Amino acid sequence: MARIILVQGDITRQNTDAIVNAANNSLQGGGGVDGAIHRAAGPELLAECRGLGECPTGEARFTKGYKLPALFVIHTVGPVWEGGKNGEDKLLQSCYKNCLKLAEIYDIRSISFPSISTGAYGFPIERAAKIAVETVTRFMERSEKIDKVIFVCFSKKDYEIYLNALTDTPFFCP
Ligand code: APR
Repeated sequence: MARIILVQGDITRQNTDAIVNAANNSLQGGGGVDGAIHRAAGPELLAECRGLGECPTGEARFTKGYKLPALFVIHTVGPVWEGGKNGEDKLLQSCYKNCLKLAEIYDIRSISFPSISTGAYGFPIERAAKIAVETVTRFMERSEKIDKVIFVCFSKKDYEIYLNALTDTPFFCP
């Protein structure tokens, strides 16, 4: 049975087949979770990213994980929050959908997500958590390929918000 798990921790330490990076359009690294993943993976990750070109917001790109415990990194670019009237919800939903589609293509069975766009990009986390949980749940209802999705929250506050969003979700294993 496919499962959704919630943890508080550092996504660079997750040993799922893939971890998702909350990147920027350049895919050339940055701060936050992007910086942490590049630091942990080592310089080869940036070298591979250099060959990928730009990644449009809402889309996802696939690389190896190098020195990370995870075998692969799926880089996605979340929307910058501009008040909610610029298609931000739809773009954030696309991030989760496109990461999961890439996971299916590359036969990834387990994948860890950070809370995309809720740091530097300012997306309200309660709203983002709802979109993340609904999108992942709907995807798992029709996919036989993904066995495990882990939401990795960096702070206790974020963890509580995701826990609230996950209550009554069919695949959630508390
Ligand atoms: N593990 C898990 N979650 C983390 C980690 C980590 N090591 N580091 C930060 N986070 C959390 C933050 O607390 C936040 O909840 O990831 C979430 C996303 O925050 P950001 O990393 O700032 O990502 P985002 O809001 O999508 O902004 C992306 O920031 O780092 C730059 O290059 C990146 O320009 C891009 C922008």
